[in-house]
Amino acid sequence: GWVVPIMYQYQGFWHHTWQLQGVLAFQKHFLAQDTDILLVTAPKSGTTWLKAISFAIINRIQYPIASKNHPLLKNNSHVVVPFVEQLYADDNSNPDFSETPPRLFATHVPYVSLPESIHNSKVKIVYMCRNPKDLFISAFHFTNKLRPEHMGTNSMEEMFDLFCKGVFLYGPYWDHVLGFWNESLKRPKEVLFLKYEEMKEQPTTQVRKLAEFYGCPFTPEEEKEGIVDAILGLCSFESLSNMEVNKKGYLPTGEMKQAYFRKGEVGDWKNHLTAEMAEKLDMITECKFQGSGLKF
Ligand code: PPS
Repeated sequence: GWVVPIMYQYQGFWHHTWQLQGVLAFQKHFLAQDTDILLVTAPKSGTTWLKAISFAIINRIQYPIASKNHPLLKNNSHVVVPFVEQLYADDNSNPDFSETPPRLFATHVPYVSLPESIHNSKVKIVYMCRNPKDLFISAFHFTNKLRPEHMGTNSMEEMFDLFCKGVFLYGPYWDHVLGFWNESLKRPKEVLFLKYEEMKEQPTTQVRKLAEFYGCPFTPEEEKEGIVDAILGLCSFESLSNMEVNKKGYLPTGEMKQAYFRKGEVGDWKNHLTAEMAEKLDMITECKFQGSGLKF
């Protein structure tokens, strides 16, 4: 059956053929500025959420959270904070980055394949990871939602088998995570490592941590006015998924906006994976992360 379209492996990671060109152009041409902020995730790790929260924090002076004109009310998070490799894919190596700093970008590109100018700069990188069982289930539903109806649905068994073997967009998942985890240990000032699960569990702590990391901690006045809850409210699953702009229509890249919102919960894998599958994934994760200090 049709599981994944043709992918190429580049520097140890799998890429869709039509995306690789953008990845290569990003890697070759992007000139980092020390003030840049880059959000990085493996697909389905909470990208949409992290983008919204980060944009809201960073731009809160220009766009007060309660503003009726807040960009997050008018555009999908992926339009507000684009994937930089996508910009290169759309624009053949010369996108216009004439934004006032800090420039906020996102990417799924693994650490090894980032542009040299990012490796050698003070660009702030926030990496969000998610436990592989929920991530896999999220990816399974996402790819099925985006498939043309006449093609039927993917088989979970086939996709699971490939995922375990590392064949996954921007995968192997574990190598993707480890690349940024190791870098966050080496350069904690530049690389902040977050977990989707922690964000769900202690959202206020994490949002404050992000604001500090971005160099714009909340002032006592902002705290008194409840800015943290306001940001979390604006960017919650409920809020984003119910916005008119996210309920219908397509992104410029062709994906259904709705497909980015499903459940937004921790532990949904329990409703989908067999005990055997869960055990297998746990075992692979334990092996791969052994000695790294990283746990799920
Ligand atoms: S993508 O394609 O990589 O950008 O997708 P990504 O956004 O990383 O992953 C989609 C999953 O994130 C959930 N989601 C959210 N969770 C919490 N809060 C908010 N605001 C939010 N928005 C999206 C989304 O529902 C997908 O997870 P699942 O488990 O499939 O629900």
